[in-house]
Amino acid sequence: MKLIFLGPPGAGKGTLAAKAVEFLKVPHISTGAIFRSAMAAKSPLGLKVKAIIDAGKLVDDETTIELVKDRLAQADAQGGYILDGFPRTIPQAEALAAFSPVDRAVNFDLPDSAVRERLGGRRVCRQCGTNYHQVFNRSRREGICDSCGGEVYIRDDDQPGAIQKRLEVYREQTAPLTAFYRNLGILVEVDASPDVEQVVENFKSAMEKLV
Ligand code: AP5
Repeated sequence: MKLIFLGPPGAGKGTLAAKAVEFLKVPHISTGAIFRSAMAAKSPLGLKVKAIIDAGKLVDDETTIELVKDRLAQADAQGGYILDGFPRTIPQAEALAAFSPVDRAVNFDLPDSAVRERLGGRRVCRQCGTNYHQVFNRSRREGICDSCGGEVYIRDDDQPGAIQKRLEVYREQTAPLTAFYRNLGILVEVDASPDVEQVVENFKSAMEKLV
C-alpha cells in the first residue's frame, strides 16, 4: 500500500506513522526527517535548507521532488510506503503522480489552536527522532529519550514565529491538496484531535472502510 499523510504541521502525522508501520509493514519516509538529518550532518543539502526550514518556509519543489524520487527508488519502498510531509504543493503532487501514483491520501485534520499546543510542547530525540510532548507524552527522564538514551531537544522550527509561518504556508500551499486527492477519489479523512490511541483507531477504521 502506497500512502501519503497530509495535514497541518503538528497534526500527529509522524507520531501516527511510527505506529502504523508496525501493522502496515511498510517504511515511513518523512521529508522533514530527511532534511533534519542532512542539517545535523551539515551536508550540502542540510546547509542549503537550514535557514528555509528554521523560518518555517518550504524547500523548493525541484530539490524536494528529486530527493523523494531517489528515496522511493530504493528497495525497501518497492512494496509500499507511508510518505509523510510530501507532497506539500500541487507541483509536488503532480510529480509524484507521474513517478509513483499512491493508493490513498490520508488527511489528518486538527484546528490551529491544537496545532499550536502540540508544536509548542513538542520535544524530539536528536538521535532516533522519537516524538515527546511536555504535557501529553513526556520522556521518563527529562531531556533523555526513553527508546535510545539520545538527547531530547526543541526543533528550531517549533518557535512561535516559525509555527505561525508554517500554518500560513500550510493554508496557502498544502491545504489545496485535499481537493486534489478528493477529485482523484482516494482521499481518506481522519479526525486527529483525540489522543494518540484513538487517532490510531480512527485511522484503522477509515482504512478498513476502503478495503
Ligand atoms: P515536517 O517535519 O514534515 O514538519 P510538519 O509537516 O510541519 O510536521 P511536523 O513534523 O511538525 O508534525 P507532525 O504532524 O508529524 O506531528 P508530530 O507527530 O510530530 O517538515 C519540516 C520542514 O521541512 C517544513 O516546514 C519544510 O520547511 C521542510 N519540508 C518537509 N517536507 C517538505 C516538502 N515536501 N516540500 C518542501 N519543504 C518540505 O506531533 C506533534 C506533537 O504532538 C508531538 O509532540 C507529539 O508527541 C504530539 N502528538 C501527536 N499526536 C498527538 C495526539 N493525538 N494527542 C496529543 N499529542 C499528540
